[in-house]
Amino acid sequence: MRSLLVCLCCVLLDLTTVQSRVLMQGRIVGGHTAAPNSIRYMVSLQSTRGQHFCGGSLVHRYWVLTAAHCNIGAEHMMIVAGDYIVNSFEGTEQYAKPHRLVTHPLYNESTNNADIMLIKLRAPMVLNRYVSLAPLPKQGTGVVEGLVCRVSGWGYNSAGGGRAPFTLRTVTVPIVSSARCNSSESFNGNITANMICAGYRTGGKDACKGDSGGPLVCGGLVYGVVSWGNGCGNAKFPGVYSAVSKFRRWIDQNIYRSHYRCTRY
Ligand SMILES: *[C@@H]1O[C@H](CO)[C@@H](O)[C@H](O)[C@H]1NC(C)=O
Ligand SMILES: *[C@@H]1O[C@H](CO)[C@@H](O)[C@H](O)[C@H]1NC(C)=O
Ligand SMILES: *[C@@H]1O[C@H](CO)[C@@H](O)[C@H](O)[C@H]1NC(C)=O
Repeated sequence: MRSLLVCLCCVLLDLTTVQSRVLMQGRIVGGHTAAPNSIRYMVSLQSTRGQHFCGGSLVHRYWVLTAAHCNIGAEHMMIVAGDYIVNSFEGTEQYAKPHRLVTHPLYNESTNNADIMLIKLRAPMVLNRYVSLAPLPKQGTGVVEGLVCRVSGWGYNSAGGGRAPFTLRTVTVPIVSSARCNSSESFNGNITANMICAGYRTGGKDACKGDSGGPLVCGGLVYGVVSWGNGCGNAKFPGVYSAVSKFRRWIDQNIYRSHYRCTRY
């Protein structure tokens, strides 16, 4: 998969570290354009040259939740909140550089297990009509098979380095049980307890290249982070997401660490 990236000609960016859904073709598959600023906690992770490469969710004024495989190095990244059409200035955007990246300690890039990362921003985002915080599920809460969720993203300009404006897109997909997703008919043992799957039996609707790190929202809560798949919209292979509810405690511990220290002593 890594070799595909050579065509991007990103001299400054070592994008070879960005795997999985960043590398796939196309954008949100089978979906439609989202209403302007309707998903206000959605952020775009961009290179310092303004190229969108992953999505994310603002979970605190200082913190973004995304996928671990979106880690291209803090010095190469810019976080954009309040965006609707990436690569087009609309006056609603807020920009922040990362202060530090916190990749999950169990992240394994060969199995995609624990593909989750927090980004601490250097300056807080201002909450307003265009920027809000994403509500997260409680630790350990599950989603039932068939529950219809929504995934959104800006996808990727597959021409690599192109500048055409991209509007936020969104598509609904039902949850697929881990048993079916992990079966020999599908991902054949590669699904861990830290992953959830979503997609139609007939395929056709899915997240794709450049949607990585973005939110899968079920009942108003961000239950999934776009992680990996096998093609996009393939009937045999649903999209695979990091299960946010398995990491809720880890998220809170990182965000409120200093607070915990203060209250404990
Ligand atoms: C990643 O998972 C593979 C397969 O289970 C294992 O062999 C490898 O040691 C793991 N790598 C890390 C860094 O944990
Ligand atoms: C499961 O993972 C193994 C080892 O990484 C890989 O060879 C195999 O192709 C994967 N199968 C599916 C269906 O993803
Ligand atoms: C998927 O199958 C593998 C191999 O049988 C197993 O180790 C793993 O625990 C299964 N995942 C889930 C979520 O049950």
